Amino acid sequence: MPDTPSPNALPAIADIQRLAAPEMAAVDDLIRSRLASDVVLINQISEHIVAAGGKRLRPLLAVLSARALGYQEAQHHTLAAIIEFIHTATLLHDDVVDESDLRRGRKTANALFGNAPSVLVGDFLYSRAFQLMVGLDSMTVQRVLADTTNAIAEGEVLQLLHVHNPDTDEAAYLRVIERKTAVLFAAATRLGAMLAGADEATQQRLADFGMNLGYAFQIADDVLDYVSDAATLGKNLGDDLAEGKATLPVIHAMTQGDPARRARLREIISAGDVGALDEVLEAIHAAGSLDYSRETANRYARAAEAALGGLPDNDWTRALRGLARYAVDRKH
Ligand code: IPE
Ligand code: IPE
Ligand code: MG
Ligand code: MG
Repeated sequence: MPDTPSPNALPAIADIQRLAAPEMAAVDDLIRSRLASDVVLINQISEHIVAAGGKRLRPLLAVLSARALGYQEAQHHTLAAIIEFIHTATLLHDDVVDESDLRRGRKTANALFGNAPSVLVGDFLYSRAFQLMVGLDSMTVQRVLADTTNAIAEGEVLQLLHVHNPDTDEAAYLRVIERKTAVLFAAATRLGAMLAGADEATQQRLADFGMNLGYAFQIADDVLDYVSDAATLGKNLGDDLAEGKATLPVIHAMTQGDPARRARLREIISAGDVGALDEVLEAIHAAGSLDYSRETANRYARAAEAALGGLPDNDWTRALRGLARYAVDRKH
């Protein structure tokens, strides 16, 4: 049998990137041209993090959502750049808070330039996003993005409140990841639909798609933090543990299986003991927590795909479905 994909097979990430390549090149031009500042340090830091690339998943979602619904103009490029600026600002801030020193395969901005410049350039990127937003001249778009950035900030603070807390449960974890991660995915997809002039019900479908995909993406990310390797991931493993951050694999393991192991995990989370990474890995393997987490991520990915029912069947919609798969199957 020849190895040809069935007509119903979802496109792989490379196919999706190929489909959107001209659009994403336009988004990249916009990102580069709008990063500019006459303050040299701003250019240095923003160039450092932006030139490293990143997957550009959120801007891709904005572009695909608009095109899936027949959008033919160019404002979705601006929307995509805004979303990526907001995302990049959160990464600059997040790496300071998490004391991370590897991002996108490079030293983090905080490791290279220090915490203060990273926080301030993060602020620059946030406010640049708002300048671009005003250019879209839509109060509704501004409202969605203002609510979204506010929710992300709440999510990061909420997470901080749970650090070193072994009583963090799955519900609390899900509340955090909805705000810190999923809402931005939901904004990207909702606003893509909004630009295309979709009715409220369709916008809501796209928002549900993005939200579920965002959950799936973050849960998969939290699994990768335990099972990948730094060269593939472009981030250090065990970062979550080092911060005392209880993510789904550990939360599951703290409630399942051997009582002595559970007690030991609680101690490790309380201390944020990255030296105990091997011990934690053994415990989460023994409790089946990686499979449990992967299955939870898959459940969200399936919910994301289901939200697209009723959308026009075209390459762009299929690409959106493919991204829901990619979010959970990815290696970095
Ligand atoms: C990192 O997001 C932050 C999380 C929500 C886990 P990405 O993995 O999309 O980061 P880049 O943009 O590709 O580097
Ligand atoms: C990602 O947080 C969410 C935001 C950046 C707002 P994480 O701390 O889980 O992401 P990584 O692992 O540093 O990319
Ligand atoms: Mg982090
Ligand atoms: Mg992480």
